Amino acid sequence: MNPTTHQIHFNTAEDMSPLADASVQLVVTSPPYPMIEMWDGIFGEQDSEIEKSLEAGEGYRAFEAMHQILDRVWSECERVLAPGGIACINIGDATRTIDSKFELYPNHSRIQTALLKLGFSVLPGILWRKPTNAPNKFMGSGMYPPGAYVTLEHEHILVFRKGNKRVFNSEKEKENRRQSAYFWEERNSWFSDVWFKLLGTRQDLLNPKLRARSAAYPFELPYTLIQMFSVMGDTVLDPFLGLGTTQFAAMATGRNSVGFEIDPKLKESIESSHAPLPDFAQSLVRGRLEEHTNFIKQRFEKKGAFKYSSRYYEFPVVTRQEIEIQFPVLEKIEGTSKEKFIAEYTHSLAWQTDLTQDWASFMKETETTE
Ligand SMILES: C[S@@+](CC[C@H](N)C(=O)[O-])C[C@H]1O[C@@H](n2cnc3c(N)ncnc32)[C@H](O)[C@@H]1O
Repeated sequence: MNPTTHQIHFNTAEDMSPLADASVQLVVTSPPYPMIEMWDGIFGEQDSEIEKSLEAGEGYRAFEAMHQILDRVWSECERVLAPGGIACINIGDATRTIDSKFELYPNHSRIQTALLKLGFSVLPGILWRKPTNAPNKFMGSGMYPPGAYVTLEHEHILVFRKGNKRVFNSEKEKENRRQSAYFWEERNSWFSDVWFKLLGTRQDLLNPKLRARSAAYPFELPYTLIQMFSVMGDTVLDPFLGLGTTQFAAMATGRNSVGFEIDPKLKESIESSHAPLPDFAQSLVRGRLEEHTNFIKQRFEKKGAFKYSSRYYEFPVVTRQEIEIQFPVLEKIEGTSKEKFIAEYTHSLAWQTDLTQDWASFMKETETTE
């Protein structure tokens, strides 16, 4: 696997002029959420009308002004995305009382409308279910109708495509696409329209407090979306980079990346994740392969022998499309210039051989008992 490059621009993403037209294949991002109080300040710094509207109790005017900042970013995303490229936007709606009036501010539908106006096609999206245990989660008039409010316990992952389906022309492109495939059982869980607590319980890269303070999403979110909607060697853009989660997921999956972030103070936090990332990324690959071997053992017991086998890992897979899967294994990250990094990969690690052997001995045992 060739090294990948990762660039950060500490600038507003309303102007992504360092990026050429049609130069990225996937956008994965989560903007600051309009009308969620923690983001009032950062929106206010970008448009002074926002603070005035909030102070005057004009919630919808503030909402609209905040979205106009985001609209300029979506327009840049449209420019830099290649035809057939995908944009995944994680966003939650906001509820807020302004001037004694409680209302919903529907961020997800406002963003969907903006991208439709830019000419994107809307694809089926994902509801990310985030149950809360907060004791005060129910708002309004309690058990007396009709003034109680439904609690929002989900966010959206909106999915859009620029133009028609992407085409893979040369044999090299087709081979790379086959190697970038995921397992059948992963497809079944990733492509369902509700993600519960983000699919798994895998360990995270950041400590939970830092993640909550900066509204960073769990690593698994961009890690999964990148593998669903791009191939190795593509370029992934996050216009609202935050602590860099999307960029780390691109490094871990053998994609190039570019991020924009308005707050230069985040530089140090972003770079502090580079040291632990290779071990973390390796543990994810190992976890996936272990989960796959557990899955095939169970399936073998229920359904018997498999028709197909992975060329690289030498264990069975369910479909022909999985035969050439080859996960990149991140080995190291090196800084080249100030905000540009190179990620390097390896292929063979001892535990991969252990997994292949584990399957072989399972089969041997099965044959002996039969
Ligand atoms: C919800 S956070 C993104 C968190 C990120 N997904 C992560 O996992 O760390 C939104 C980020 O957008 C940044 N931001 C706000 N306005 C921006 C703009 N106009 N251009 C670029 N970044 C912006 C904020 O500073 C914040 O770090």
